[in-house]
Amino acid sequence: MPHRAPGSPGHGPGHYLQGKQIRYYRPTGSAEVRQLIEGGFQAFNAGRLSEACHIYADKMLAPASDTTIGLTVAGALTPAGLGGCVIELMERGLIDFMISTGANLYHDLHYALNFQLHRGSPFLDDVDLYEQGIIRIYDVLFPATVLLETDAYIRDFLVRSGLDGPISTSEFHYRLGLDLLERNPACAEYSVVAKAAQCGLPIYTSSPGDSSIGMNIAYHELMNGSSLMIDPNKDVNEVCAIILAGRQNGCIILGGGSPKNFYLQGQPTLWEVYGIPKGGNDYFIQITTDQVVWGGLSGATPAEAVSWGKVNPGVLPDTVVAYCDSTIAFPLFCEYAVGSEHNRRDLRKLVHKREALVADLVRQAKASKASKDARVDITREPAEIDRHR
Ligand SMILES: NC(=O)c1ccc[n+]([C@@H]2O[C@H](COP(=O)([O-])OP(=O)(O)OC[C@H]3O[C@@H](n4cnc5c(N)ncnc54)[C@H](O)[C@@H]3O)[C@@H](O)[C@H]2O)c1
Repeated sequence: MPHRAPGSPGHGPGHYLQGKQIRYYRPTGSAEVRQLIEGGFQAFNAGRLSEACHIYADKMLAPASDTTIGLTVAGALTPAGLGGCVIELMERGLIDFMISTGANLYHDLHYALNFQLHRGSPFLDDVDLYEQGIIRIYDVLFPATVLLETDAYIRDFLVRSGLDGPISTSEFHYRLGLDLLERNPACAEYSVVAKAAQCGLPIYTSSPGDSSIGMNIAYHELMNGSSLMIDPNKDVNEVCAIILAGRQNGCIILGGGSPKNFYLQGQPTLWEVYGIPKGGNDYFIQITTDQVVWGGLSGATPAEAVSWGKVNPGVLPDTVVAYCDSTIAFPLFCEYAVGSEHNRRDLRKLVHKREALVADLVRQAKASKASKDARVDITREPAEIDRHR
């Protein structure tokens, strides 16, 4: 690749931003895509993606199964324009809650605030990009001012919101979404965070410090003396409570990373920690580029998850991993679901039920502990009981 000196005529930052603006794509239920998936996707990973579409559309979304569905998102999906797929699923009630990397939520804010991301190339001179103030996520390009202005909005929101003390990430994202809606109600059509607030759908982040949102919350503490703190314990318990309340549970896992485990640890938290025998997931769909052979959780199969109680042993036919780039597979998957018979469900609006759900978790956990303590008392030898008197 020929090197161009920074500042060469005609090669200012604008030169890199001539590609089309990236917009959120909204699936419409295309009959042609459904036909392709039904007839053309027959074997290998096309076959697995077809299977995933069937598990989702025919089983998870069937009214009789009444499945509580979690979506986990890792990988640069909002920068790549896939937020529209998530918005469509939320609006139709086809997912009930979401766990995302902070990066995806942070980059979603650029769309909400009407900043522009552009189509570009992965084969650029990154030193020149740096000198021209252009940020690159693979082939997505945008000026560094987008970061600075998004950060300024977050800091301004933090001050205006008066948020204080320990809160869950679901509460933080809900309040952030409400603020975006107040500024511009139309942004619900092109912001995942805003649409989630409108739908009452909770969004969690598994590693709150790992994004520019977390970086600005840290600033707020250091520079403004704020006591606002993201409390991961609240997140763990809320996700657990949502899973506990589900008649059936299922997940769509995009990529791997910490959102995958944060969702899947729900069932082990219930049986291993709280002593509540809820059982594992009934449905498991993963679209990922991660491989099983490296031993990491990101690439771990549903079969491995059975041993942890994360997936019910009897349901392996209702689990599938499609080894695909999710920027290709997820829009196809959503087209299929939106065009399917069960393409709309009542919104569960779990944001507004979190307190009641956690209260039920506490009740069941205490009941389980009480019955365990009673069992221990009965099985103790009389001599042992004497020793403790
Ligand atoms: N400013 C911020 O807040 C911030 C913070 C972290 C990352 N980022 C940027 O956001 C991007 C996304 O980061 P992230 O933390 O969401 O996840 P990531 O890119 O680290 O990916 C996490 C997981 O998703 C899988 N994955 C990634 N791309 C995939 C694809 N196309 N198809 C299927 N699976 C895929 C990976 O194998 C991995 O398991 C990064 O590339 C980075 O440039 C920004």
